Amino acid sequence: MDFSIRTGSPDRLRSGCVVVGVYSPRRPGQAAQAIDRATGGLVGDILKRGDFEGRAGSTLMLPRVAGTAFERVLLVGLGAEAELTEPRYREAVRAAVNALRAAGARDALLCLADTPPAGRDVAWAVKQAATVAMDTLYRFDRMKSAPERVAQALRSIALRAGSREAAAASVALEQGVAIGHGMGLARDLGNLPPNVCTPSYLATEAASLARSHRLGLEVLDQKAMQRLGMGALLAVARGSREPPRLISLTYRGAGRRDAPVVMIGKGITFDTGGISLKPAAEMDEMKFDMCGAAGVLGAIKAAAMMRLPLNVVAMVPATENMPGGQATRPGDIVTTMSGQTVEILNTDAEGRLILCDAMTYAERLKPAAVIDVATLTGACVIALGHVASGLWANDDALAGEVLDAGQRAWDRAWRLPLWEDYQEQLRSNFADFANIGGRPAGSITAACYLARFARKYPWAHLDIAGVAWRSGREKGATGRPVPLLAELLIARAGLAASGSRRPRR
Ligand code: BES
Ligand code: MN
Ligand code: ZN
Repeated sequence: MDFSIRTGSPDRLRSGCVVVGVYSPRRPGQAAQAIDRATGGLVGDILKRGDFEGRAGSTLMLPRVAGTAFERVLLVGLGAEAELTEPRYREAVRAAVNALRAAGARDALLCLADTPPAGRDVAWAVKQAATVAMDTLYRFDRMKSAPERVAQALRSIALRAGSREAAAASVALEQGVAIGHGMGLARDLGNLPPNVCTPSYLATEAASLARSHRLGLEVLDQKAMQRLGMGALLAVARGSREPPRLISLTYRGAGRRDAPVVMIGKGITFDTGGISLKPAAEMDEMKFDMCGAAGVLGAIKAAAMMRLPLNVVAMVPATENMPGGQATRPGDIVTTMSGQTVEILNTDAEGRLILCDAMTYAERLKPAAVIDVATLTGACVIALGHVASGLWANDDALAGEVLDAGQRAWDRAWRLPLWEDYQEQLRSNFADFANIGGRPAGSITAACYLARFARKYPWAHLDIAGVAWRSGREKGATGRPVPLLAELLIARAGLAASGSRRPRR
C-alpha cells in the first residue's frame, strides 16, 4: 500500500474515489460540501432524500460522477459532530477502507483526517488513519493451500491535509505507516502456528529484521544460558524438544553512550502449562503466548523505520512450555541468574520464569528503562477484559509515559498496584520465594515476582493477556501493544509528530 499526503481542495484532486465525512443527522462535513458544490448538489440531494443519515460507521458509495476529478464518491458517517471521539474516528476510517475494498477501488483520496476528534490535531488523525487502514487491510492466509483471491485492488491512499499542516502530516504519516508495519509483523508472528513459530524461528525472524534494518543481533543458545546461570529460563525449556533462545536486537539511533530503552517480550511459542497441564479447551490459543515477543519485535521494527534518534533493544526469551520426562516438576527449586532461588509450585506460571532471567541479563546494558511485555496471567483478563493492558511500574514517571503513550496511540493501559503487602503471597518455606501467589490478585503477584528482578533500573510491566489476540470467529493476533510501544519511543526521542528534527543515520 502506498500512502501520501495531498493538499488542495478535495474536488480538484484527481482520484479514483474521494472519501468524505457526513455528520448525523444528514450534515455534510467540509470536504463533503466541496464535493457537493463540484457536483451541482449531488451530496445535498442524497442527504435531503434521506438516503444517507451519517450514522457512525455507515458508508454509501456513489457511482461515477461526470466531469469531475474523481471517479466515485464514498460518503462515510461520522455520527453527531459533538460526539466525534477517538474510537468513532477510527471506526469511520475502518468502515471507509472496508467499503473501498468491497467496491474494488484502486486508489482513494481520504478526506477524514482534516477533521480530527476534539483535542486531537491533524497529525494525530493522519497517523491513526494510516495505522487503522493498514490494520484493516491485514490478511493472514499464508497457511492456506489456495489463498482466497480477494481482489486486493486498493493500491494507494492519499490523505488530504491543509497546506499549513502538510509538513507535520507527512511526519505523522511516516510514523503511522511504520507502526502499521510493526503491527503487521507482530500479527504475523502471533498468527503463525506453533509448529512453525518455534524459538529458532523467532531467532531467524530476528536475524532477517537485523539484516533489513541494520540492527545488532545476539542469539544465546542453551549452553550460553547455562554459563550465565539462567536456571529459571532453562527450567521452563527442559520439557521441550525445541531448543530455547535468548534473542537481543539492538537499534542504534543515538550515540554509543546513550542508555537504551530495553523492551523484553515473553516468547513462549506454546504454553501447555507443562506438568501443571492446562485443560484441553482452547489450548490452541496458547500459540499466542509469544505475543509479547512479537510486540517488541514489531516495535523495534517501527522504531527503525521511523529512524528515531534513540537506542532501543528488543530482547526475547523464547521457549516452549511442555510436559515430558525431563520437564520441571511442581516443587522443583531453581536458581535464577540473579542468584535468588525460586520454588516452582506451578509450572504453568512459566512466563515470569523466563522473563526474570532476561531482566537480570538486561542489567549489563545499563538501560534507561526496561519495559517487559507479556501474555502473563489469565487474572489480568478477568480484571481488565479485552480493553486495557495491565500496567505495573517501579517508577512513577515511567508509568506516566506508558499511560500517555497508550492514550495517544489508542492502545490503552491501566495501572495496578505493586504494593509490598502483596509480596507476602509469594512466600516459600523452602526457597527465597515461590513462582505463584495463589488466586487473589493473580496478575499483581505475578508483577510482584518480576519486581524482585528489576531493582537496578526504572521498570514497567505490561500484561497483555487480554489484548494481544481475539478469540472466536475473528480469532487472531491484534498487533497490540506495538502502537503503545512505538508511541512511547517517539515521545522518548523527543520527536512529536509536529517536530521537524529528522536525524540521518
Ligand atoms: N500464558 C498464560 C496466561 C494466559 C492464560 C493468558 C490464558 C491468556 C489466557 C500463563 O503462562 C499462565 O498460564 N498463567 C497462569 C498463572 C497461574 C498458574 C498462577 C494463569 O493465569 O492461570
Ligand atoms: Mn502458563
Ligand atoms: Zn504462558
